[in-house]
Amino acid sequence: MNNRRAMVAGNWKMNKTLTETSELLKAMVTLLSGFSKVDIVVCPPFTNLSLARLETGESEVKVGAQNMHWQEKGAFTGEVSAAMLAEFCDYVILGHSERRVLFAETDETVNKKVHTALEHGLKPIVCVGESLEQNQAGQTAAVVEKQCRESLKDLNAEQAKQVVIAYEPVWAIGTGLAATPEGANEVHRDVIRPVLRELFGAETGDGVRILYGGSVTPDNAADLFGMSDIDGGLIGGASLKAESFVAIVRAANDAR
Ligand code: PGA
Repeated sequence: MNNRRAMVAGNWKMNKTLTETSELLKAMVTLLSGFSKVDIVVCPPFTNLSLARLETGESEVKVGAQNMHWQEKGAFTGEVSAAMLAEFCDYVILGHSERRVLFAETDETVNKKVHTALEHGLKPIVCVGESLEQNQAGQTAAVVEKQCRESLKDLNAEQAKQVVIAYEPVWAIGTGLAATPEGANEVHRDVIRPVLRELFGAETGDGVRILYGGSVTPDNAADLFGMSDIDGGLIGGASLKAESFVAIVRAANDAR
């Protein structure tokens, strides 16, 4: 237990058409009212962001994007800028492992994106996490620490206050095999938190939220969110249905 506000963000990945987005948000938004201890975010694909903004309206549900380019504008076919997103979004997921593995994102590009997002008033949800091989080789702490340091390079403490970290072990994403609450908490408390404190000072470092992601479901959410240093979750598969997403938000609210 700590006094950081909980957060649950749904990463829809490449799912949902406009019609499906409208249906899902209509079903979700009313059910998501009254959870006063949780920041709630939905992150649909780019094409659905403006609709998501309309559907969420003045509700407590905020909208985030799943990626962006670091340049302001120009000849970058297929890319989307921070200024474009800032019209609809409060948050942007950066450095998700699927972006890192499938689209060759590096800590360096993630870091550029973090800076650009902050310049445009978008709050970055920065993803870190080790692969199965790295985990089995005992490299988790080293990998996660390096990702944190490099992705957050040259931020000042004021900027760091806007950042959310998501620890997502790659082996847990979409596999149904979540990290144990104790295992995830250890990475949050003993690896990520000390880096944040070192980079931004104890007070700011202690205030940055660290979410867990990777096969979070209504069944394991309460145990995960009950841990001292897990401040909420980044949810993939279970964010695509109103019932499961709402149940996970409720678990985060109850844990506070
Ligand atoms: P998952 O995905 O909940 O489906 O495992 C989490 C994520 O990739 O953010």
